[in-house]
Amino acid sequence: MKKERTLAEPFRIKMVEPLRMTTVEYRKDVLQKAGYNPFLLSSDDVYIDLLTDSGTSAMSDHQWSAMMLGDESYAGAHSWEKLEREVKDLTGMNYVLPTHQGRAAERILYGILGGKDKVFISNTHFDTTRANIEFTGATAIDCMSEESQDPDADLPFKGNMDIEQARESILKYGKENIGAVILTVTNNSSGGQPVSMENTKQVRELCDEFGILFVLDGCRIAENSYFIKHREANFDGKTYRQIAQQMLSLCDAFIMSAKKDALVNMGGLLVLRNELLAQKSTNLLIISEGFATYGGLSGRDMEAMAVGLQEVFDAGYLHYRIKSTEYLGKHLHEKGVPLIRPYGGHAIYIDAKKFYSHIPAHQFPGQALVCDLYEQGGIRCVEVGSVMFGKYDEHGNHVAPKNELVRLAIPRRVYTQSHIDYVIDVFDDIVEMKNQARGLEIVYEPPFLRHFTARFKRL
Ligand code: F0G
Repeated sequence: MKKERTLAEPFRIKMVEPLRMTTVEYRKDVLQKAGYNPFLLSSDDVYIDLLTDSGTSAMSDHQWSAMMLGDESYAGAHSWEKLEREVKDLTGMNYVLPTHQGRAAERILYGILGGKDKVFISNTHFDTTRANIEFTGATAIDCMSEESQDPDADLPFKGNMDIEQARESILKYGKENIGAVILTVTNNSSGGQPVSMENTKQVRELCDEFGILFVLDGCRIAENSYFIKHREANFDGKTYRQIAQQMLSLCDAFIMSAKKDALVNMGGLLVLRNELLAQKSTNLLIISEGFATYGGLSGRDMEAMAVGLQEVFDAGYLHYRIKSTEYLGKHLHEKGVPLIRPYGGHAIYIDAKKFYSHIPAHQFPGQALVCDLYEQGGIRCVEVGSVMFGKYDEHGNHVAPKNELVRLAIPRRVYTQSHIDYVIDVFDDIVEMKNQARGLEIVYEPPFLRHFTARFKRL
């Protein structure tokens, strides 16, 4: 059989950013000083940074040149008008609020919709989404089927919401107490898995049945559109942008961290169909972010975002994006590393519960793997398991989430295939040493989003 051709990056490099390789001894030392939490490392000490795909994209020449056109007027800047036109065209919604990043949009919207006794329903709330909801005193409920949470289940749309669970929650808490139903696409905290158009329609119908607001948390909507086009019937003839537009036509509000699929380093959007909600949100925007025509952004940020929202739907780009993520997945799978499969769009997720099966959940197997990857290869990534989502019961015992995952998130247009080959090579050592891996104990943790600042010691 003829060998498949390498999928070379659909861009060439015009500006370089040097990377520094350090030794294992050096990294062991700085990681210990950082309390075994890679969020607390200096990025100069990281060789390949797979901590997040958020705000880490490389911008294109078109984006950089658009930045030169940035209009920094306080009100009514033409850069804002350009962004607003672009977002209205994409979403079909009338009210566009710029924010400095996704969680600012979340704070505004859930600050209005939330409060004590309110309940929010999602496929899976992302951690900042959950934190912004819980911060208002409300409750956040994830509705995923058992099957879709099985890392090995080979399903095309493992990010889908379980509609029956969502319905049960609505009936249990009463429709008047539901703040919103939030569909996260792709479903970041559950493996970067896509959500189908069919499921989106079902969520729409459910919200219509009970008169509930439907919010799309769509920071990776272009990647999700790729999966719909290639996995769901009757989307073959549609462009990725048309698929995203169709999905957006089904919801009432759109929250976007532009740091993902808008290909910018900073930015967010809150987009609404409802005028009254838009007025209330605009008041909060002005108090906390900035005037309505810039939110938390400068004119040049808005220029770059308007261009990024176009570029991300380019067929060549999206194909490269999804296939290069898959490339990492395929090679780690061949080495016997247990992964969530099929592979998601922006990241590869390792099943640390299975990989480090000798480390119990309360000793944080995912965090142990994160630390080992840093020490052995200078690779930085994040735990999505007991550190991020673990809770305590009334006796102070650890309550583990369903999965212990480690996310290798791929920044957009940043690393070449040889960087990824390096990551794959590091796993040879990780696999060889896996039985000696040791768990961790928390020595400090804050009350919310503890994974960002918690400190650990090795057991
Ligand atoms: N919603 C989802 C699904 C996200 O993945 C994120 C951020 C946010 C909201 C918040 O956006 O960071 O701009 O305030 N995810 C990043 C990540 C941080 O690493 O997955 P933000």
